[in-house]
Amino acid sequence: MSVVRSIVTGSGSYLPEKILTNDDLAKMVDTSDEWIVQRTGIKQRHIAADGEVTSDLATAAAKRALEAAGCEASDVDTIILATATPDNTFPASAVTVQANLVITHGYAFDVHAVCSGFVYALTTADAYIRSGMSKRCLVIGAETFSRILDWDDRTTCVLFGDGAGAVVLEASEAEGLNTDRGILTSHLRSDGRHKEKLFVDGGPSATQTVGHLRMEGREVFKHAVGMITDVIEDAFAATGYNAEDLTWFIPHQANKRIIDASAKKLKIAPEKVVTTVQWHGNTSAASIPLALDMAVRDGRVKKNDLVMLEAMGGGFTWGSVLLRW
Ligand code: ACO
Repeated sequence: MSVVRSIVTGSGSYLPEKILTNDDLAKMVDTSDEWIVQRTGIKQRHIAADGEVTSDLATAAAKRALEAAGCEASDVDTIILATATPDNTFPASAVTVQANLVITHGYAFDVHAVCSGFVYALTTADAYIRSGMSKRCLVIGAETFSRILDWDDRTTCVLFGDGAGAVVLEASEAEGLNTDRGILTSHLRSDGRHKEKLFVDGGPSATQTVGHLRMEGREVFKHAVGMITDVIEDAFAATGYNAEDLTWFIPHQANKRIIDASAKKLKIAPEKVVTTVQWHGNTSAASIPLALDMAVRDGRVKKNDLVMLEAMGGGFTWGSVLLRW
């Protein structure tokens, strides 16, 4: 039987030039490199330049993904941008990316699921492709979280950074087997009762301001590992695979302790875990495609590898995508 599968044909990423180290932060708030590394694994993060906006980061990552896929912007019919830090309240930053890529056909929109944004966007693009609504999508995660941080709040400002990652996802005929390349299964979840544990205290309708990120870190931590492992177990149940079958585990890069605890609970071997949080901090929706692109470009992720993506974030939202590269 022939089915449509969504396969990734190229990836790209972009990081702003400016690097902010833990020692730099220790000059701004009462913190230390030792505290940050011990609690989070983060050593540094990138910060967008003045005037450099989310769509700029997204466009740079998208161009690299298109180049890796060997196609032109004109070959793309759909752009889905996951971000919680759009350039403006509207229009969607995805349409600015579309304009930057100098295309006017097809359609572009933003997906907003905070740190789970890339998993949500990839799942959306996959559904569009399998339904026949799209043939080739640019799926991007891009954030400028530095713009919504309270730089006087040491409990949050040390955790986040700016960046972007992108993939080209396209329709491919397949047999409908687990050995096919492409997205094999996706599992999305949300629970809005946890809004107050991780949120931004501003917005166009509520306060007419942009606001700052607020978080009850311990509460987020408490829920994270359970939620992450649940959706990964859903992916295993849907495909019959288990932790040993995975070639790579590429989680949302929020905190090394959350990543390590999730991998341990799932019995995923440490050498299969791709970790970039030390270099990028938490870049929210950008973190998975950034880590993925790094592992593709350094030769770790290869054709036919079985790759598990996973994220959890504000909302709460969480989800997993299992794909064969
Ligand atoms: N430097 C030094 N000390 C600090 C800092 C800092 N940057 N931040 C907090 N502290 C202090 C606190 O004030 C507290 O001091 P006290 O004991 O005198 O009151 C002490 O350190 C311990 O604070 P806790 O909040 O209990 O520290 P914890 O071990 O829980 O670590 C952390 C905090 C790193 C935020 C942790 O809770 C965590 O990782 N939570 C998950 C957060 C996360 O990953 N969020 C993002 C996921 S969702 C998304 O990606 C959007």
